[in-house]
Amino acid sequence: MKRLFVLLAALVLAALAPAQRPLTMICEATFPPYEYHVRGGIDGIDPALARIVAACLGRELEVQDMAFDAVIPAVSTGKADIAASGITVTDERRRQVLFSVPYVQAAQVVVVRQGCDIATPEALRGRRIAVQSGSTGDLFVTKTFGDPERFQNVTFAITAVLSGKAEAAVVDQEPARVFVAGSQGLAILPEPAVCETYAFAFAKERRLLCAQVDAIFEAMRRQGTLERLLERYFAAGRSYKQDKAALAEALDTSDLLAEVLADEALRARLAELAATGAAAEGGEAVGAWQRFRETLHLNFVAADRWLYLLRGFGVTVEISFFAVLIGLAIGFVVAVIRATHETQGTLAVADFLCKLYLTVIRGTPAVVQLLIIYFVIFGSVNVSKVFVAVIAFGFNSGAYVSEIIRAGILSIDRGQMEAGRSLGLGYLSAMRHIILPQAFRNVLPALGNEFIVLLKETSVAGYIALMDLTKAGDIIRSQTYTAFLPLLAVAAIYLAVVSLLTCLLGLLERKLKNG
Ligand code: ARG
Repeated sequence: MKRLFVLLAALVLAALAPAQRPLTMICEATFPPYEYHVRGGIDGIDPALARIVAACLGRELEVQDMAFDAVIPAVSTGKADIAASGITVTDERRRQVLFSVPYVQAAQVVVVRQGCDIATPEALRGRRIAVQSGSTGDLFVTKTFGDPERFQNVTFAITAVLSGKAEAAVVDQEPARVFVAGSQGLAILPEPAVCETYAFAFAKERRLLCAQVDAIFEAMRRQGTLERLLERYFAAGRSYKQDKAALAEALDTSDLLAEVLADEALRARLAELAATGAAAEGGEAVGAWQRFRETLHLNFVAADRWLYLLRGFGVTVEISFFAVLIGLAIGFVVAVIRATHETQGTLAVADFLCKLYLTVIRGTPAVVQLLIIYFVIFGSVNVSKVFVAVIAFGFNSGAYVSEIIRAGILSIDRGQMEAGRSLGLGYLSAMRHIILPQAFRNVLPALGNEFIVLLKETSVAGYIALMDLTKAGDIIRSQTYTAFLPLLAVAAIYLAVVSLLTCLLGLLERKLKNG
């Protein structure tokens, strides 16, 4: 009995305490050849290097994909052990994270359409420039030429150039080469915009891990394995045009790993670090209040960053307001058509079209609709992005509004319509003067709810490089590398607007009830 108990306890303990937590690495994985999705996971130079690091430390590796402007805030707040995402070393970022020694020389280059009149980076002044939000390309353009069009990733930035939404993109060199190899009619200017180096980044207090990575990178440079690893991925990326499969499978780097693991000097250095280095972890203590005041200043006061929030707020309100109007208009028409078909049996074709509209809109995410309208439907015409967003969110909202209003119409007793008709009103005027006002009043709470949802739904407008409120927070975060305050400020503003809206709707409801 006692033995059985001991055995059970041992089993439970073994299950509860797995060998060691895997080492986690974060990146934004649409950045070939540094990180990209392959069959069965994420591969690229950064994951390959991180795999070697993990193996040297006797750990498993877990690679996670997230938005680039969240990568540095995430690692600095301990959401992951390593940030390895083709991250350029800058002084600003050094305030938030520790950097390893660099592992590669890189550059920001200018991508244009072939035959375009932009020939040097200086010629970008006054042009519409696309960048990846929060990248050093973004920082460079913002500083030298003013606000660019900020996209979620390099693919979107390049797509914007391809479709004529932007005249040039400033992006990282090797990814640019891969994308240019993979599409028609693009060219990279020979003169780079900025030269830079990439390194792994860690939270400030992870000094031991940083020193271990330094030791590994230095050993790999000495062995030549670093050079070979880079060459292997660069070659795969650049041959993408002839060989689309080049980036579909993870590359085999086990030979390089074996060489690194066999390195005596490295092993000795890592053992020494493990013995003495643990004491080095733990950050310097700064007063919490002092720190808070500094981040407050950095995020909102310095460089007039609050202006981003103000302008973003304006854009959010503008889009939401006009989208609500469009949504209401569409909603009324669709609802009347459908209710008429249901009660009178007429308007079969229109009813079918309405159902199709409802199915498509409700069956696909708003952000996908937005991207389709921007890149495909308005692909080759030059329209304002606010207009695109108003159309996208208006059409999206119309589907939901129409169902709400239809429910309202159906909730009104049939007798009312008949009474109206027998008084000599036509069908449409009976609808307009008798049914719709009551229906509207009945569904007002549900409609109010829909407007609130719509307001918040517009937060994906940043996908088409619109600077709405959410995006404003992202931009601040991407410049200050702090996640907490910008997010909190954005949330507070949305909350305030929604509360105001709720209040107004309450007033309207009361007024309609009395009137
Ligand atoms: N090198 C640039 C930077 O550090 C862009 C990196 C983007 N990386 C990515 N995985 N998307 O700002």
